Amino acid sequence: MQAGIIGIGKYVPEKVVTNFDLEKIMETSDEWIRTRTGIEERRIASEDMDTSHMAYLAAKEAMENAQVKPEDIDLILTATVTPDQPFPSISCMLQDQLGAKHAAALDVSAACAGFMYAMVTAKQFIESGTYKNVLIVGAEKLSKITDWKDRNTAVLFGDGAGAVIMAPVSNGRGVLSFELGADGSGGKHLYQDQHIFMNGREVFKFAVRQMGESAVHVIEKAGINKEDVSYLIPHQANIRIMEAARQRLELPVEKMSNTIAKYGNTSAASIPISLYDDVKAGKIKDDDIVVMVGFGGGLTWGAILMKWGR
Ligand code: UT7
Repeated sequence: MQAGIIGIGKYVPEKVVTNFDLEKIMETSDEWIRTRTGIEERRIASEDMDTSHMAYLAAKEAMENAQVKPEDIDLILTATVTPDQPFPSISCMLQDQLGAKHAAALDVSAACAGFMYAMVTAKQFIESGTYKNVLIVGAEKLSKITDWKDRNTAVLFGDGAGAVIMAPVSNGRGVLSFELGADGSGGKHLYQDQHIFMNGREVFKFAVRQMGESAVHVIEKAGINKEDVSYLIPHQANIRIMEAARQRLELPVEKMSNTIAKYGNTSAASIPISLYDDVKAGKIKDDDIVVMVGFGGGLTWGAILMKWGR
């Protein structure tokens, strides 16, 4: 029995903030942001839209898409570094709001790799036969921990949420391999004090190396070849980092997800948001081999190779 994705959902705030809008409030330029990061605009949540609300809207759509009833959810895992408060967790809030009365609930803190960690956790429960339906959400309101006076970080981030339902899927489909890892010694390069602090160059070097390596490792573990990969969904942190991973896999441009231009870096939400947009656009079809790979503060990383379909 293999665990796979049977439903997807997404929510992004309506408010679009373009690079040109940022030019007006800090010393930066559309040209710098676009060429250095690939970002053109991002969504920013309103005051009254906290992380849990975005998570709820994405989760609701994923449940409808999967045709799973609230009472049939066994576990809720939310990957986030921007919960509404330290506790109760976003997952507990969702458990109540969705009416998932039989679900256990906890949040996963692994920064931008959080969604990969949560999916792998769900896979263990499903494939051991312990749980059937797991709701996994990646949700962030990064705008509330962004230092809007620091142009090194303020131009990068956005808000949003993506969700999936994982459950047993038909033979041969689902998660075929994964890799998770951490290097706490690099924690000093990317952390939250009051705001986000980042040593961009150090994180960049780590990311370029780790994304490529993790992608190659999950391909090897699945016993397939690079040529068999249909689609790559890298964490949307910087187009130059994503490009390095794509080139390592020798994939054409159209086989890599690219939603960073529209949403910026949404941390734990970036992979499920991209997955959602790409499935809806028909770029991912049944039996496609999809590689997802994330990295982030911790430092953490995670990759999953799956055969798409229920
Ligand atoms: O999901 C979390 C993981 N985070 C990441 O993956 C981020 C990884 N790092 C990066 O993506 C890149 O390092 C950045 C996009 C953050 C920065 O790009 P870079 O090519 O590494 O630029 P840099 O930090 O070396 O800065 C180059 C110059 C500096 O000016 P000087 O010192 O050369 O005069 C910066 O002050 O660009 C300047 N700069 C800016 N200029 C205009 C930095 N930020 C900005 C800005 N607008 N927003």
